[in-house]
Amino acid sequence: MLNFKNKHKKLDNYSLHHGVGLVASDDPNGIISEQFKTIRTNIQFSSVDKPLKSILFTSSEPSEGKSTVSSNIAVTWAQQNEKVLLIDADLRRPTVHQTFNVDNKKGLSNYLLGNATFEEIIQPTDFHNLYVITSGPIPPNPSELLGSNKIKQLFTRLSESFGLLILDAPPINTVTDAQVLANLVDGVILVVPQGIANKAAVAHAKQALLMVHAHILGAVMNRVIRDQHYGYYGSYYGLEKYQRKS
Ligand SMILES: Nc1ncnc2c1ncn2[C@@H]1O[C@H](COP(=O)(O)OP(=O)(O)OP(=O)(O)O)[C@@H](O)[C@H]1O
Ligand SMILES: [Mg+2]
Repeated sequence: MLNFKNKHKKLDNYSLHHGVGLVASDDPNGIISEQFKTIRTNIQFSSVDKPLKSILFTSSEPSEGKSTVSSNIAVTWAQQNEKVLLIDADLRRPTVHQTFNVDNKKGLSNYLLGNATFEEIIQPTDFHNLYVITSGPIPPNPSELLGSNKIKQLFTRLSESFGLLILDAPPINTVTDAQVLANLVDGVILVVPQGIANKAAVAHAKQALLMVHAHILGAVMNRVIRDQHYGYYGSYYGLEKYQRKS
C-alpha cells in the first residue's frame, strides 16, 4: 500500500455510520446546490461526442469526499428528469444505505455472489427518479468480486433501464477496486479536496487510471476555501478538466 505523507489527513468514519449530507436536497436553491448543478452540466459537456451512460467517482485516498460528491450529483441529476441509479461500489467503506436510509441486506455483494436477484437489489429512494444499489454485506474479497464477468453483465443490463449509472468507488491509491471498475464505465471523475490532498498522491492516482485506459473526465475540487469559511457552506465545487491522454 502506498503511503503519501499528509499532515492534514485523517480517516473520517462519520459518514460510515451516518451517511453523507445531501445539501442538494436540503437546500436546493443554495450556493452549494448551484455548484452541484454546474458540475452536472460540466460533466455532461465533458463528453459531447458520446452521451455518458455511466460515471465513476474516486479519489486518491480515503475520506476525500467521494460519497458526498457522488450522492449529491445523483440527487441533482435525478432532478433533471433522468432516471438515475447510484451504485455503492465501495464494498469496503459503504455509505449509500445510510445516506438514503435504505436497507443493506441485499446489495451489490449479494448479487455478485449469486445470493440476490437483479430486481431485489434495485431500491427506490425518497427522490423521484433516483434509485440505489447498496453495497450489501462487506465481502472478504471485494477486488475479486468487482473484477468478475458478472458485474460487466450487470452494468450492461442496468444501462438498459437507467439513463445514468453513478458509481461511488473506493480510493485509487489504496486498493485496486477503482482501477478495475474504471474500465467498465464511460468516464471517471477524481474528487480532490483542495489543500488536503497530496499532490503526488493525486498524480499517482491519475497515472493509475491512465494505465487502465480509463476515460478521465475531470476532477471535482472539494472543500475549496472561500471567503475564510471552511466546510460545506464555504466549499466550492468545480470541475477541472484534466488533460486527456490522446
Ligand atoms: N465539502 C465538504 N465540506 C465539509 N465536509 C465535507 C465535505 N466533503 C466531505 N465532507 C465530510 O468529510 C467526510 C468524508 O466524506 P465522504 O464520506 O464523502 O468521503 P469518502 O471519500 O467517500 O470517504 P471513504 O474513503 O470513507 O469512502 C464526511 O464526514 C463528510 O461529511
Ligand atoms: Mg465513501
